[in-house]
Amino acid sequence: MSAKPEQSKVQRVLTGVTTSGTPHLGNYAGAIRPAIEMSNQPDVDAFFFLADYHALIKCDDADRVERSRLEIAATWLAAGLDTERVTFYRQSDIPEIPELSWILTCSTPKGIMNRAHAYKASVDANTAAGVEPDDGVTMGLYSYPILMAADILMFNAHKVPVGADQIQHLEMARDIAQRFNYHYGKGHEYFVLPEAQVDEEVATLPGLDGRKMSKSYNNTIPLFEGTAKDLQQAIAQIKTDSKLPGETKNPDDSNLFAIYRAFVEPSKAEAFAQELRDGLAWGEAKKMLGDELETIIAPMRERYTELMARPELIEDILLAGAEKARKISQPFIQEIRQAVGLRRFHAIANDSSAKAHEKATKKSNKTPRFVSFKDETGQFMFRLISTEGEELLRSVSFPNPKIAGQEIKALQSEPSAIEFELVGEFYQLSLNGQLVALAVDEAGVGAETWKAKLLNQLALFSEA
Ligand code: TRP
Repeated sequence: MSAKPEQSKVQRVLTGVTTSGTPHLGNYAGAIRPAIEMSNQPDVDAFFFLADYHALIKCDDADRVERSRLEIAATWLAAGLDTERVTFYRQSDIPEIPELSWILTCSTPKGIMNRAHAYKASVDANTAAGVEPDDGVTMGLYSYPILMAADILMFNAHKVPVGADQIQHLEMARDIAQRFNYHYGKGHEYFVLPEAQVDEEVATLPGLDGRKMSKSYNNTIPLFEGTAKDLQQAIAQIKTDSKLPGETKNPDDSNLFAIYRAFVEPSKAEAFAQELRDGLAWGEAKKMLGDELETIIAPMRERYTELMARPELIEDILLAGAEKARKISQPFIQEIRQAVGLRRFHAIANDSSAKAHEKATKKSNKTPRFVSFKDETGQFMFRLISTEGEELLRSVSFPNPKIAGQEIKALQSEPSAIEFELVGEFYQLSLNGQLVALAVDEAGVGAETWKAKLLNQLALFSEA
């Protein structure tokens, strides 16, 4: 279709829909339609998904969750989403998302989550009701913003179209991304910092009673569910004032007009407004709105009904979408696992593996041994390894290997001359008043037992 955009200008835009309800007219005008329009712009790489893991937080009715996922998928497809262009998938088909969510959970301060609006609202309501502050609050609700951050960061979205109520969640996603980049990235930006896109132009439809159209207010107008008649009947219930036919009406004060305006060209809306001012009867106005909506909705409703009758087709479309999405999420989660240290085993090139090796190979030795080495500053040190392969003591630093060797000899030949002193957690071992070595009773056997063990081990040198 349109020419391929320049790679650098492409904006990755991502948004999710919680699958816990049936889309209504307000969802269409406020979210679905603008998202599809945006996805058709040439420099947009759009990711739309069904947030069905999020649905489990709000809804524990399995059949309702199942039905809502199907209805919402069918709605987006019927509304004209081009799944060749857009990556359209179910959150629950991308196992890398919950994996990332857990990794992010581990670096997200609890204090940030305490401030989340949705959680705070529950706490406030509980407090007002005189019950436990966390009554009915699941860990899902509490961690909701982290899962949402994982949704967004998994695909490194630049822009996230959301309602104003989601702005705080986007701020949290940025915060979470920034912390991860800072701690694990050390200059490498694993995650893009996403931005909320709250479009003022987008219509927020009033419901039948004049409040925002919302399932929770029970004031919605159906979109594709039901028939043309159901649509007309809902429209008949839109609240108007009691002005009679012929009386002048104020369109700016009318829910009916606000809905009409959201579906037609500005010039057509203005003509309708003028008719209202000129005394158009409310009954007539409702019929005009109904006809207008039916014209727009009918072809989409037909597609919707066909799709709902063929769930296996929707299933295939979504699985193909998941496959497309996982081309990105699978390699990316490997990078993230690498970053946090969940790596394939390989020899770790540092002191601890050398020690582990030493321990493993020396375990079977019948004699203890002194091991000499150079410290970071080039001084000479030694440690005593027991017959079981554990480190019993570590010397102080000596300026040359000769002195270090003399001290080893002294420890071997005159163990009874060693002076012990417990300082904090350390035993200080001295010879002739000179500090020679330090040791920690790692196994916690107690000073007397530890000392006896050391002396037993040193005695083995004179027996040899
Ligand atoms: N929380 C969003 C809502 O209730 C839905 C959602 C989940 C979402 N994950 C997302 C939106 C990621 C945008 C990006 O509306």
